[in-house]
Amino acid sequence: MLATNVTRLLDIQHPIVLAPMGAVSGGALAGAVTRAGGLGLIGPGYLGPDWIEGAFRDAGNARVGIGFITWYLEQHPEQFDAALAHRPAAVMLSFGDAAPWIARAKAAGALVFCQVQSLAGAREAAAAGADLIVAQGGEAGGHGARRGTLALVPAVVDAVAPLPVLAAGGIADGRGLAAALTLGAGGVLLGTRFLASQESLASAAQKQRLLAASGDETRRTTIFDRVRGIAWPAPYTGRALVNDFTRRWHGREEALDAALASEGPRYQAASASGDLDTALTWSGEGVDLVRDAPPAAELVQRLVAEAEAALAAGAALRA
Ligand SMILES: Cc1cc2nc3c(=O)[nH]c(=O)nc-3n(C[C@H](O)[C@H](O)[C@H](O)COP(=O)(O)O)c2cc1C
Repeated sequence: MLATNVTRLLDIQHPIVLAPMGAVSGGALAGAVTRAGGLGLIGPGYLGPDWIEGAFRDAGNARVGIGFITWYLEQHPEQFDAALAHRPAAVMLSFGDAAPWIARAKAAGALVFCQVQSLAGAREAAAAGADLIVAQGGEAGGHGARRGTLALVPAVVDAVAPLPVLAAGGIADGRGLAAALTLGAGGVLLGTRFLASQESLASAAQKQRLLAASGDETRRTTIFDRVRGIAWPAPYTGRALVNDFTRRWHGREEALDAALASEGPRYQAASASGDLDTALTWSGEGVDLVRDAPPAAELVQRLVAEAEAALAAGAALRA
């Protein structure tokens, strides 16, 4: 039993939160993490109200939250309305100015999580009224920035105390959970580990790639956003598995922009046909530790058991 300021705030059994991975963390996955004693966050990414409706339906009666890409939400506020109608347990805001959204989320009964990538971002989010800060290191899969989890987490914990903090980025087993707790976090927010789970909406081929991949073969890049025409603001880049497309275009971003008339349709066709030598597979550096895709509930149990063992082994060092 790992009791922390996060398990108390969220009224959950285990200090494990499913990241709101866009189009991957659907209702079935979020619901499964909640039923296993953690908290699941639905990830609409760039999808609209219909998808959000379906995700809450798929979560059944499980208490789940939802996470937004804040700069995208500014352009598509209908995502927010659709979500709040379902009275989510938590609303997570990442990648942009959270302040304009916090009061409405709280008025709808949600706890507000702000995912940040810097100490300055953590201070801003705390001042804006966040209930919890997610300190995301650059090891993370998907979008993020540059600072490493190990140094960022304790700095954020100190800066926003007594607000609870979740550590995110590169954590994929119970040793990582134990380390996060030792750094002063009250829990972890995991993406890549749950990307390879039975309920994840990633394709079977993507899961297969993840099981065979190493963190050595991931890279933060902007090329997948450029070719998809998604205008992510600085300083965000996305960490994905290196594939032929990365080898061809990473470091040649201007040339890619100039070739978009042909590369855009070629990429879309590859994405539609599931050609992962061209299409992206987001992945964090922790993918070395991802070697199976079991039901999410099994992952939650395993993470807790491993963390308890790691913390006990650490305590034994003092004997
Ligand atoms: C496939 C994938 C999609 C993601 N999509 C989102 C998203 O839509 N919104 C968001 O706030 N974070 C997103 N993230 C980042 C996660 O919130 C989280 O910070 C990250 O997964 C933690 O690092 P880890 O992957 O090493 O566990 C995504 C991550 C992955 C792997």
